[in-house]
Amino acid sequence: MSVELGKPDRGSVPVHVVDRQTWPEVASRLPKADARWLQTLGFVGAPDSHALLPGADGQLAAVWAGVATASHPWALAALPKNLPVGAYHLAGEVCGGLVLEASAAAMSWELGAYRFDLYKAAKREPARLVLPGSKAAEHGLLLAAAIASTRDLVNTPAEHMGPAHLAEVAKLVARQHGATFKQTVGDKLLGAGFPAVHAVGRAAASDRAPRLIELHWGKPKHPRLSLIGKGVCFDTGGLDIKSADGMRQMKKDMGGAAHVLGLAQLVMALQLPVRLQVLIPAVENAIAGNAYRPGDVYKTRKGLHIEIGNTDAEGRVILCDALAYAAESQPALMIDMATLTGAARVALGPQLPALFCRDIGQARALVDRGLALHDPLWHMPLWAPYHGGIESEIADIVNTGAGPMGGAISAALFLEDFVPADQEWLHLDLYAWNSSSRPGRPVGGEAQSLRTLIAYLEDRFGAGTGSGNDMGSGIGQPAPGAARRARP
Ligand code: BES
Ligand code: ZN
Ligand code: ZN
Repeated sequence: MSVELGKPDRGSVPVHVVDRQTWPEVASRLPKADARWLQTLGFVGAPDSHALLPGADGQLAAVWAGVATASHPWALAALPKNLPVGAYHLAGEVCGGLVLEASAAAMSWELGAYRFDLYKAAKREPARLVLPGSKAAEHGLLLAAAIASTRDLVNTPAEHMGPAHLAEVAKLVARQHGATFKQTVGDKLLGAGFPAVHAVGRAAASDRAPRLIELHWGKPKHPRLSLIGKGVCFDTGGLDIKSADGMRQMKKDMGGAAHVLGLAQLVMALQLPVRLQVLIPAVENAIAGNAYRPGDVYKTRKGLHIEIGNTDAEGRVILCDALAYAAESQPALMIDMATLTGAARVALGPQLPALFCRDIGQARALVDRGLALHDPLWHMPLWAPYHGGIESEIADIVNTGAGPMGGAISAALFLEDFVPADQEWLHLDLYAWNSSSRPGRPVGGEAQSLRTLIAYLEDRFGAGTGSGNDMGSGIGQPAPGAARRARP
Protein backbone atom coordinates (compact mmCIF):
# COMPACT_ATOMS: atom_id res chain seq x y z
CA MET A 1 0.00 0.00 0.00
CA SER A 2 1.38 3.38 -0.86
CA VAL A 3 -1.41 5.18 1.00
CA GLU A 4 -1.50 4.89 4.77
CA LEU A 5 -4.30 6.15 6.97
CA GLY A 6 -3.13 7.91 10.12
CA LYS A 7 -0.96 10.76 11.35
CA PRO A 8 1.85 11.99 9.08
CA ASP A 9 5.39 10.95 10.08
CA ARG A 10 7.79 13.64 11.23
CA GLY A 11 9.58 14.85 8.19
CA SER A 12 6.74 14.01 5.82
CA VAL A 13 6.55 16.56 3.02
CA PRO A 14 3.40 18.69 2.53
CA VAL A 15 1.67 18.53 -0.86
CA HIS A 16 -0.22 21.70 -1.79
CA VAL A 17 -2.98 21.21 -4.32
CA VAL A 18 -4.37 23.80 -6.73
CA ASP A 19 -6.24 23.95 -9.98
CA ARG A 20 -5.64 26.36 -12.84
CA GLN A 21 -8.48 28.65 -11.77
CA THR A 22 -7.34 29.11 -8.18
CA TRP A 23 -3.61 29.27 -8.96
CA PRO A 24 -3.27 33.05 -9.66
CA GLU A 25 -4.95 33.92 -6.36
CA VAL A 26 -2.88 31.35 -4.44
CA ALA A 27 0.33 32.49 -6.12
CA SER A 28 -0.35 36.09 -5.06
CA ARG A 29 -0.50 34.99 -1.40
CA LEU A 30 2.71 32.96 -1.44
CA PRO A 31 6.03 34.28 -0.15
CA LYS A 32 7.60 36.15 -3.08
CA ALA A 33 10.57 33.80 -3.47
CA ASP A 34 8.32 30.71 -3.62
CA ALA A 35 6.01 32.33 -6.18
CA ARG A 36 8.99 33.34 -8.31
CA TRP A 37 10.50 29.84 -8.15
CA LEU A 38 7.22 28.21 -9.20
CA GLN A 39 6.86 30.74 -11.99
CA THR A 40 10.40 29.91 -13.15
CA LEU A 41 9.39 26.25 -13.35
CA GLY A 42 6.32 27.19 -15.36
CA PHE A 43 3.94 25.78 -12.75
CA VAL A 44 0.39 27.05 -13.31
CA GLY A 45 -1.67 24.35 -11.59
CA ALA A 46 -2.29 22.29 -14.74
CA PRO A 47 -3.72 18.81 -14.07
CA ASP A 48 -1.02 16.13 -13.54
CA SER A 49 1.75 18.72 -13.19
CA HIS A 50 3.81 19.28 -10.06
CA ALA A 51 6.70 21.35 -8.79
CA LEU A 52 9.20 20.72 -6.01
CA LEU A 53 9.97 23.51 -3.58
CA PRO A 54 13.34 23.32 -1.80
CA GLY A 55 13.86 24.69 1.71
CA ALA A 56 16.75 26.94 2.78
CA ASP A 57 18.58 23.78 3.94
CA GLY A 58 18.40 22.22 0.49
CA GLN A 59 15.88 19.61 1.60
CA LEU A 60 12.56 19.11 -0.15
CA ALA A 61 10.24 21.50 1.72
CA ALA A 62 6.95 21.18 -0.19
CA VAL A 63 5.31 19.98 -3.36
CA TRP A 64 2.81 21.90 -5.45
CA ALA A 65 0.49 19.73 -7.48
CA GLY A 66 -2.06 20.70 -10.11
CA VAL A 67 -5.42 18.90 -10.37
CA ALA A 68 -8.47 19.20 -12.62
CA THR A 69 -10.90 19.48 -9.68
CA ALA A 70 -10.86 18.78 -5.93
CA SER A 71 -12.83 15.55 -6.39
CA HIS A 72 -11.27 14.26 -9.58
CA PRO A 73 -10.71 10.49 -9.29
CA TRP A 74 -7.24 10.70 -10.87
CA ALA A 75 -6.25 13.93 -9.07
CA LEU A 76 -2.94 12.75 -7.57
CA ALA A 77 -2.23 9.82 -9.86
CA ALA A 78 0.83 11.40 -11.48
CA LEU A 79 2.65 11.84 -8.16
CA PRO A 80 3.60 8.47 -6.58
CA LYS A 81 5.93 7.40 -9.37
CA ASN A 82 7.35 10.87 -10.02
CA LEU A 83 7.97 12.39 -6.58
CA PRO A 84 11.18 11.53 -4.75
CA VAL A 85 10.82 8.41 -2.61
CA GLY A 86 9.53 9.28 0.87
CA ALA A 87 6.42 10.21 2.84
CA TYR A 88 4.01 13.00 1.96
CA HIS A 89 0.80 14.46 3.38
CA LEU A 90 -1.81 16.84 2.01
CA ALA A 91 -1.28 20.40 3.20
CA GLY A 92 -4.94 21.43 3.15
CA GLU A 93 -6.03 25.00 2.71
CA VAL A 94 -2.76 26.88 3.18
CA CYS A 95 -2.75 30.09 1.09
CA GLY A 96 -6.11 29.18 -0.45
CA GLY A 97 -4.98 25.83 -1.91
CA LEU A 98 -7.66 23.21 -2.59
CA VAL A 99 -8.82 20.65 -0.06
CA LEU A 100 -9.01 17.37 -1.94
CA GLU A 101 -11.92 15.03 -1.43
CA ALA A 102 -10.44 12.17 0.65
CA SER A 103 -11.79 9.29 -1.44
CA ALA A 104 -10.33 10.78 -4.63
CA ALA A 105 -7.02 11.51 -2.90
CA ALA A 106 -6.70 7.96 -1.57
CA MET A 107 -7.74 6.22 -4.78
CA SER A 108 -5.73 8.36 -7.16
CA TRP A 109 -2.52 8.03 -5.13
CA GLU A 110 -2.91 4.29 -4.62
CA LEU A 111 -3.56 3.66 -8.32
CA GLY A 112 -0.87 6.13 -9.29
CA ALA A 113 1.49 3.66 -7.65
CA TYR A 114 -0.05 0.65 -9.44
CA ARG A 115 2.28 -1.61 -11.35
CA PHE A 116 1.91 -5.22 -12.48
CA ASP A 117 5.03 -6.54 -10.83
CA LEU A 118 4.50 -10.29 -10.84
CA TYR A 119 7.46 -10.96 -13.14
CA LYS A 120 9.53 -7.78 -13.04
CA ALA A 121 10.46 -5.73 -10.00
CA ALA A 122 9.94 -1.97 -10.06
CA LYS A 123 13.04 0.19 -10.48
CA ARG A 124 11.99 2.32 -7.53
CA GLU A 125 9.39 2.28 -4.82
CA PRO A 126 6.51 4.75 -5.09
CA ALA A 127 6.24 7.79 -2.86
CA ARG A 128 3.95 7.24 0.14
CA LEU A 129 0.95 9.35 1.15
CA VAL A 130 -0.25 9.54 4.74
CA LEU A 131 -3.89 10.59 4.94
CA PRO A 132 -6.08 11.14 8.01
CA GLY A 133 -8.29 8.07 8.48
CA SER A 134 -11.93 8.55 7.40
CA LYS A 135 -14.75 6.56 5.84
CA ALA A 136 -14.18 8.45 2.61
CA ALA A 137 -10.48 7.58 2.51
CA GLU A 138 -11.29 3.92 3.25
CA HIS A 139 -13.82 3.94 0.43
CA GLY A 140 -11.18 5.29 -1.95
CA LEU A 141 -8.78 2.55 -0.93
CA LEU A 142 -11.44 -0.11 -1.40
CA LEU A 143 -12.06 1.13 -4.93
CA ALA A 144 -8.33 1.13 -5.63
CA ALA A 145 -7.95 -2.43 -4.31
CA ALA A 146 -10.83 -3.72 -6.45
CA ILE A 147 -9.46 -1.98 -9.54
CA ALA A 148 -5.93 -3.25 -8.91
CA SER A 149 -7.10 -6.82 -8.44
CA THR A 150 -9.18 -6.63 -11.64
CA ARG A 151 -6.13 -5.35 -13.53
CA ASP A 152 -3.87 -8.01 -12.05
CA LEU A 153 -6.19 -10.80 -13.16
CA VAL A 154 -6.32 -9.41 -16.68
CA ASN A 155 -2.57 -8.84 -16.83
CA THR A 156 -1.66 -12.32 -15.66
CA PRO A 157 -0.79 -14.44 -18.71
CA ALA A 158 -3.06 -17.35 -19.64
CA GLU A 159 -0.42 -19.86 -18.54
CA HIS A 160 -0.89 -18.62 -14.98
CA MET A 161 -4.55 -17.65 -15.26
CA GLY A 162 -6.41 -20.62 -16.68
CA PRO A 163 -9.92 -21.71 -15.66
CA ALA A 164 -8.57 -23.51 -12.57
CA HIS A 165 -6.56 -20.45 -11.46
CA LEU A 166 -9.60 -18.24 -11.92
CA ALA A 167 -11.55 -20.64 -9.72
CA GLU A 168 -8.82 -20.44 -7.03
CA VAL A 169 -9.04 -16.66 -7.07
CA ALA A 170 -12.84 -16.80 -6.76
CA LYS A 171 -12.47 -19.23 -3.86
CA LEU A 172 -10.09 -16.87 -2.10
CA VAL A 173 -12.41 -13.91 -2.60
CA ALA A 174 -15.28 -16.04 -1.24
CA ARG A 175 -13.26 -17.07 1.81
CA GLN A 176 -12.26 -13.50 2.54
CA HIS A 177 -15.87 -12.35 2.69
CA GLY A 178 -17.64 -15.40 4.07
CA ALA A 179 -19.27 -16.25 0.73
CA THR A 180 -19.82 -19.80 -0.48
CA PHE A 181 -17.90 -21.08 -3.46
CA LYS A 182 -18.86 -23.81 -5.88
CA GLN A 183 -17.59 -25.03 -9.20
CA THR A 184 -18.92 -27.50 -11.76
CA VAL A 185 -15.99 -28.85 -13.75
CA GLY A 186 -15.48 -30.71 -17.05
CA ASP A 187 -18.01 -33.35 -18.08
CA LYS A 188 -20.07 -32.61 -14.94
CA LEU A 189 -21.20 -29.49 -16.83
CA LEU A 190 -23.28 -31.73 -19.07
CA GLY A 191 -25.20 -33.37 -16.22
CA ALA A 192 -25.62 -30.02 -14.45
CA GLY A 193 -27.19 -28.40 -17.52
CA PHE A 194 -24.42 -26.24 -18.95
CA PRO A 195 -23.87 -27.83 -22.36
CA ALA A 196 -22.80 -24.64 -24.13
CA VAL A 197 -20.06 -23.92 -21.57
CA HIS A 198 -18.86 -27.50 -22.02
CA ALA A 199 -18.86 -27.30 -25.83
CA VAL A 200 -16.62 -24.24 -25.95
CA GLY A 201 -14.20 -25.45 -23.28
CA ARG A 202 -13.95 -29.14 -24.04
CA ALA A 203 -10.84 -28.92 -26.23
CA ALA A 204 -8.65 -27.56 -23.43
CA ALA A 205 -6.07 -29.68 -21.58
CA SER A 206 -7.52 -31.62 -18.66
CA ASP A 207 -5.95 -29.33 -16.04
CA ARG A 208 -7.61 -26.41 -17.80
CA ALA A 209 -11.05 -28.02 -18.05
CA PRO A 210 -14.09 -25.77 -18.56
CA ARG A 211 -16.13 -24.92 -15.51
CA LEU A 212 -18.92 -22.82 -14.05
CA ILE A 213 -17.68 -20.93 -11.02
CA GLU A 214 -20.31 -19.76 -8.52
CA LEU A 215 -20.11 -17.54 -5.50
CA HIS A 216 -23.05 -16.82 -3.20
CA TRP A 217 -23.21 -14.25 -0.44
CA GLY A 218 -25.76 -12.31 1.60
CA LYS A 219 -29.00 -12.76 3.44
CA PRO A 220 -32.08 -14.44 1.93
CA LYS A 221 -34.27 -11.47 2.90
CA HIS A 222 -32.35 -9.10 0.62
CA PRO A 223 -32.94 -8.58 -3.12
CA ARG A 224 -30.93 -10.80 -5.42
CA LEU A 225 -28.16 -9.39 -7.53
CA SER A 226 -26.53 -11.58 -10.21
CA LEU A 227 -23.15 -10.73 -11.70
CA ILE A 228 -22.06 -12.80 -14.70
CA GLY A 229 -18.59 -12.50 -16.23
CA LYS A 230 -17.09 -13.93 -19.43
CA GLY A 231 -14.14 -16.04 -18.34
CA VAL A 232 -12.38 -17.02 -21.56
CA CYS A 233 -8.88 -17.47 -20.17
CA PHE A 234 -7.43 -17.56 -23.66
CA ASP A 235 -9.23 -17.06 -26.95
CA THR A 236 -7.41 -18.63 -29.88
CA GLY A 237 -10.61 -18.26 -31.88
CA GLY A 238 -10.95 -22.05 -31.85
CA LEU A 239 -11.06 -23.81 -35.24
CA ASP A 240 -11.91 -20.41 -36.75
CA ILE A 241 -8.46 -19.43 -35.57
CA LYS A 242 -7.55 -15.79 -35.02
CA SER A 243 -4.69 -14.03 -36.80
CA ALA A 244 -1.46 -13.58 -34.85
CA ASP A 245 -2.30 -9.93 -34.21
CA GLY A 246 -5.86 -10.75 -33.21
CA MET A 247 -4.68 -13.40 -30.74
CA ARG A 248 -1.87 -11.42 -29.16
CA GLN A 249 -3.91 -9.82 -26.34
CA MET A 250 -6.35 -12.66 -25.80
CA LYS A 251 -5.12 -13.43 -22.28
CA LYS A 252 -7.46 -10.57 -21.43
CA ASP A 253 -10.56 -12.40 -22.65
CA MET A 254 -11.43 -13.21 -19.04
CA GLY A 255 -11.72 -9.47 -18.42
CA GLY A 256 -15.46 -9.75 -17.75
CA ALA A 257 -14.81 -12.37 -15.06
CA ALA A 258 -12.11 -10.15 -13.52
CA HIS A 259 -14.59 -7.27 -13.45
CA VAL A 260 -17.36 -9.20 -11.74
CA LEU A 261 -14.89 -10.46 -9.13
CA GLY A 262 -13.74 -6.87 -8.54
CA LEU A 263 -17.34 -5.66 -8.30
CA ALA A 264 -18.29 -8.55 -6.01
CA GLN A 265 -15.41 -7.64 -3.67
CA LEU A 266 -16.80 -4.11 -3.44
CA VAL A 267 -20.39 -5.28 -2.88
CA MET A 268 -19.26 -7.55 -0.06
CA ALA A 269 -16.73 -5.19 1.55
CA LEU A 270 -19.35 -2.43 1.57
CA GLN A 271 -21.86 -4.93 2.97
CA LEU A 272 -24.53 -3.95 0.47
CA PRO A 273 -27.86 -5.41 1.53
CA VAL A 274 -28.16 -7.75 -1.46
CA ARG A 275 -28.14 -11.46 -1.96
CA LEU A 276 -25.24 -11.77 -4.34
CA GLN A 277 -24.69 -14.46 -6.93
CA VAL A 278 -21.52 -14.37 -9.05
CA LEU A 279 -21.38 -16.67 -12.08
CA ILE A 280 -18.26 -17.17 -14.16
CA PRO A 281 -18.26 -19.59 -17.05
CA ALA A 282 -14.50 -20.18 -17.31
CA VAL A 283 -13.03 -21.86 -20.39
CA GLU A 284 -10.14 -21.83 -22.76
CA ASN A 285 -11.21 -21.49 -26.40
CA ALA A 286 -8.62 -23.99 -27.60
CA ILE A 287 -7.90 -26.05 -30.70
CA ALA A 288 -7.81 -29.85 -30.58
CA GLY A 289 -9.44 -32.88 -32.20
CA ASN A 290 -12.44 -32.56 -29.91
CA ALA A 291 -12.90 -28.82 -30.39
CA TYR A 292 -16.43 -27.56 -31.15
CA ARG A 293 -16.86 -26.81 -34.84
CA PRO A 294 -18.40 -24.26 -37.17
CA GLY A 295 -21.77 -25.64 -38.21
CA ASP A 296 -22.35 -27.59 -34.98
CA VAL A 297 -25.67 -27.18 -33.22
CA TYR A 298 -26.00 -27.37 -29.43
CA LYS A 299 -29.05 -27.45 -27.23
CA THR A 300 -28.49 -24.87 -24.49
CA ARG A 301 -29.62 -24.86 -20.86
CA LYS A 302 -32.68 -22.82 -21.82
CA GLY A 303 -33.67 -25.34 -24.48
CA LEU A 304 -32.90 -23.04 -27.40
CA HIS A 305 -30.78 -24.65 -30.11
CA ILE A 306 -27.82 -22.58 -31.21
CA GLU A 307 -25.83 -23.00 -34.37
CA ILE A 308 -22.13 -22.19 -34.33
CA GLY A 309 -21.48 -19.81 -37.23
CA ASN A 310 -17.99 -19.04 -35.96
CA THR A 311 -16.08 -20.65 -33.09
CA ASP A 312 -14.47 -17.28 -32.36
CA ALA A 313 -17.83 -15.93 -31.20
CA GLU A 314 -17.48 -18.15 -28.11
CA GLY A 315 -18.26 -15.55 -25.44
CA ARG A 316 -21.97 -15.41 -26.18
CA VAL A 317 -22.07 -19.21 -26.26
CA ILE A 318 -20.71 -19.67 -22.73
CA LEU A 319 -22.67 -16.70 -21.42
CA CYS A 320 -26.02 -17.96 -22.71
CA ASP A 321 -26.08 -20.88 -20.26
CA ALA A 322 -24.92 -18.69 -17.38
CA LEU A 323 -27.55 -16.02 -18.15
CA ALA A 324 -30.31 -18.62 -18.36
CA TYR A 325 -29.18 -20.08 -15.03
CA ALA A 326 -29.02 -16.65 -13.35
CA ALA A 327 -32.51 -15.78 -14.59
CA GLU A 328 -33.94 -18.95 -13.01
CA SER A 329 -33.72 -17.32 -9.57
CA GLN A 330 -35.41 -14.13 -10.84
CA PRO A 331 -32.88 -11.64 -9.44
CA ALA A 332 -33.81 -7.99 -8.98
CA LEU A 333 -30.96 -7.18 -11.34
CA MET A 334 -28.61 -9.13 -13.60
CA ILE A 335 -25.38 -7.57 -14.87
CA ASP A 336 -23.10 -9.33 -17.32
CA MET A 337 -19.66 -8.07 -18.28
CA ALA A 338 -17.65 -9.41 -21.19
CA THR A 339 -14.86 -8.68 -23.66
CA LEU A 340 -17.44 -9.84 -26.15
CA THR A 341 -16.86 -8.26 -29.55
CA GLY A 342 -14.23 -6.47 -31.58
CA ALA A 343 -17.20 -4.60 -33.08
CA ALA A 344 -17.88 -2.76 -29.81
CA ARG A 345 -14.29 -1.48 -30.01
CA VAL A 346 -14.73 -0.41 -33.61
CA ALA A 347 -17.84 1.51 -32.57
CA LEU A 348 -16.58 3.13 -29.37
CA GLY A 349 -12.81 2.67 -29.16
CA PRO A 350 -10.96 1.26 -26.17
CA GLN A 351 -12.10 3.71 -23.48
CA LEU A 352 -15.87 3.34 -23.68
CA PRO A 353 -17.58 0.09 -22.71
CA ALA A 354 -20.83 -0.47 -24.60
CA LEU A 355 -23.88 -0.67 -22.36
CA PHE A 356 -26.95 -2.56 -23.54
CA CYS A 357 -30.13 -2.35 -21.53
CA ARG A 358 -33.83 -2.73 -22.32
CA ASP A 359 -34.77 0.38 -20.33
CA ILE A 360 -33.45 3.39 -22.21
CA GLY A 361 -34.03 5.70 -19.23
CA GLN A 362 -31.94 3.48 -17.01
CA ALA A 363 -29.19 3.30 -19.63
CA ARG A 364 -29.09 7.08 -19.97
CA ALA A 365 -28.93 7.52 -16.20
CA LEU A 366 -25.96 5.13 -16.08
CA VAL A 367 -24.22 6.96 -18.90
CA ASP A 368 -24.68 10.26 -17.00
CA ARG A 369 -23.37 8.69 -13.82
CA GLY A 370 -20.32 7.33 -15.63
CA LEU A 371 -19.54 10.75 -17.07
CA ALA A 372 -19.89 12.41 -13.65
CA LEU A 373 -17.52 9.86 -12.09
CA HIS A 374 -14.99 9.95 -14.97
CA ASP A 375 -15.63 6.24 -15.42
CA PRO A 376 -17.58 6.30 -18.66
CA LEU A 377 -19.70 3.83 -20.58
CA TRP A 378 -21.91 4.43 -23.60
CA HIS A 379 -25.38 3.25 -24.49
CA MET A 380 -25.92 1.07 -27.55
CA PRO A 381 -29.27 -0.33 -28.72
CA LEU A 382 -30.80 -3.77 -28.42
CA TRP A 383 -32.18 -3.14 -31.90
CA ALA A 384 -34.85 -5.81 -32.34
CA PRO A 385 -35.13 -5.43 -36.16
CA TYR A 386 -31.61 -6.89 -36.39
CA HIS A 387 -32.72 -10.11 -34.72
CA GLY A 388 -33.37 -11.56 -38.16
CA GLY A 389 -29.61 -11.48 -38.68
CA ILE A 390 -29.02 -14.06 -35.94
CA GLU A 391 -31.78 -16.42 -37.03
CA SER A 392 -30.57 -19.79 -38.33
CA GLU A 393 -31.87 -22.11 -41.04
CA ILE A 394 -31.39 -25.21 -38.92
CA ALA A 395 -31.47 -23.97 -35.31
CA ASP A 396 -33.18 -21.25 -33.29
CA ILE A 397 -30.30 -18.80 -33.53
CA VAL A 398 -26.71 -18.62 -34.75
CA ASN A 399 -23.76 -17.06 -32.93
CA THR A 400 -22.79 -14.75 -35.81
CA GLY A 401 -24.69 -11.84 -37.35
CA ALA A 402 -25.90 -11.57 -40.95
CA GLY A 403 -22.80 -9.64 -42.01
CA PRO A 404 -19.93 -7.65 -40.67
CA MET A 405 -22.05 -4.70 -39.54
CA GLY A 406 -23.50 -4.09 -36.07
CA GLY A 407 -21.56 -6.95 -34.51
CA ALA A 408 -21.85 -5.74 -30.91
CA ILE A 409 -25.63 -5.47 -31.33
CA SER A 410 -25.89 -8.98 -32.84
CA ALA A 411 -23.99 -10.37 -29.85
CA ALA A 412 -26.19 -8.48 -27.38
CA LEU A 413 -29.36 -9.67 -29.17
CA PHE A 414 -28.08 -13.24 -28.94
CA LEU A 415 -27.65 -12.84 -25.17
CA GLU A 416 -31.04 -11.15 -24.87
CA ASP A 417 -32.75 -14.33 -26.07
CA PHE A 418 -31.63 -15.98 -22.83
CA VAL A 419 -32.93 -13.25 -20.53
CA PRO A 420 -36.70 -13.31 -19.83
CA ALA A 421 -38.55 -10.23 -21.11
CA ASP A 422 -39.45 -9.01 -17.61
CA GLN A 423 -35.95 -9.54 -16.18
CA GLU A 424 -33.95 -6.39 -15.45
CA TRP A 425 -30.58 -6.78 -17.12
CA LEU A 426 -27.48 -4.78 -18.01
CA HIS A 427 -24.94 -6.04 -20.54
CA LEU A 428 -21.49 -4.44 -20.79
CA ASP A 429 -19.25 -5.21 -23.75
CA LEU A 430 -15.85 -3.93 -22.66
CA TYR A 431 -12.18 -3.84 -23.60
CA ALA A 432 -10.59 -4.30 -20.15
CA TRP A 433 -7.34 -2.81 -21.42
CA ASN A 434 -5.50 0.51 -21.61
CA SER A 435 -3.87 0.75 -25.01
CA SER A 436 -2.07 3.95 -24.03
CA SER A 437 -0.79 5.17 -20.71
CA ARG A 438 -2.31 7.92 -18.55
CA PRO A 439 -1.43 8.81 -14.94
CA GLY A 440 -2.76 5.99 -12.72
CA ARG A 441 -3.71 3.98 -15.80
CA PRO A 442 -0.65 2.30 -17.31
CA VAL A 443 -0.82 0.25 -20.50
CA GLY A 444 -2.34 -3.13 -19.68
CA GLY A 445 -5.39 -4.54 -17.93
CA GLU A 446 -8.01 -2.04 -16.82
CA ALA A 447 -11.19 -2.04 -14.76
CA GLN A 448 -13.87 -0.16 -16.68
CA SER A 449 -17.18 1.15 -15.32
CA LEU A 450 -16.52 -0.53 -11.97
CA ARG A 451 -16.81 2.71 -9.99
CA THR A 452 -19.92 3.67 -11.93
CA LEU A 453 -21.57 0.32 -11.25
CA ILE A 454 -20.76 0.22 -7.53
CA ALA A 455 -22.02 3.79 -7.11
CA TYR A 456 -25.22 2.77 -8.90
CA LEU A 457 -25.59 -0.34 -6.74
CA GLU A 458 -24.92 1.64 -3.56
CA ASP A 459 -27.61 4.14 -4.52
CA ARG A 460 -30.05 1.48 -5.52
CA PHE A 461 -29.57 -1.12 -2.82
CA GLY A 462 -27.57 0.70 -0.12
CA ALA A 463 -29.32 1.94 3.02
CA GLY A 464 -29.87 5.47 1.68
CA THR A 465 -26.21 6.32 1.38
CA GLY A 466 -26.54 9.06 -1.21
CA SER A 467 -24.08 9.24 -4.04
CA GLY A 468 -22.29 6.07 -3.17
CA ASN A 469 -19.04 7.93 -3.09
CA ASP A 470 -19.99 9.86 -0.01
CA MET A 471 -19.90 6.73 2.06
CA GLY A 472 -22.16 6.39 5.04
CA SER A 473 -22.78 2.74 4.28
CA GLY A 474 -20.96 0.59 6.78
CA ILE A 475 -17.62 -0.43 5.40
CA GLY A 476 -16.99 -4.01 6.31
CA GLN A 477 -13.58 -5.52 6.55
CA PRO A 478 -11.75 -4.06 3.58
CA ALA A 479 -10.25 -6.85 1.57
CA PRO A 480 -7.58 -4.97 -0.26
CA GLY A 481 -6.58 -7.07 -3.17
CA ALA A 482 -7.85 -10.48 -2.22
CA ALA A 483 -7.10 -11.46 -5.75
CA ARG A 484 -3.70 -9.79 -5.62
CA ARG A 485 -2.63 -12.26 -2.99
CA ALA A 486 -3.93 -15.12 -5.07
CA ARG A 487 -1.11 -14.83 -7.51
CA PRO A 488 0.24 -18.04 -8.91
N1 BES B 1 -12.81 -11.99 -27.49
C1 BES B 1 -13.28 -11.62 -28.77
C2 BES B 1 -13.70 -10.18 -28.87
C3 BES B 1 -12.62 -9.16 -28.68
C4 BES B 1 -11.59 -9.05 -29.60
C5 BES B 1 -12.72 -8.27 -27.65
C6 BES B 1 -10.65 -8.07 -29.43
C7 BES B 1 -11.77 -7.29 -27.47
C8 BES B 1 -10.73 -7.20 -28.37
C9 BES B 1 -14.48 -12.47 -29.19
O1 BES B 1 -14.53 -13.74 -28.68
C10 BES B 1 -14.45 -12.55 -30.68
O2 BES B 1 -13.47 -13.02 -31.19
N2 BES B 1 -15.49 -12.07 -31.33
C11 BES B 1 -15.54 -12.04 -32.74
C12 BES B 1 -16.95 -12.41 -33.15
C13 BES B 1 -17.11 -12.67 -34.61
C14 BES B 1 -16.38 -13.91 -35.02
C15 BES B 1 -18.58 -12.80 -34.92
C16 BES B 1 -15.20 -10.63 -33.20
O3 BES B 1 -15.59 -9.67 -32.53
O4 BES B 1 -14.52 -10.50 -34.22
ZN1 ZN C 1 -13.49 -15.18 -29.83
ZN1 ZN D 1 -13.53 -14.03 -26.85
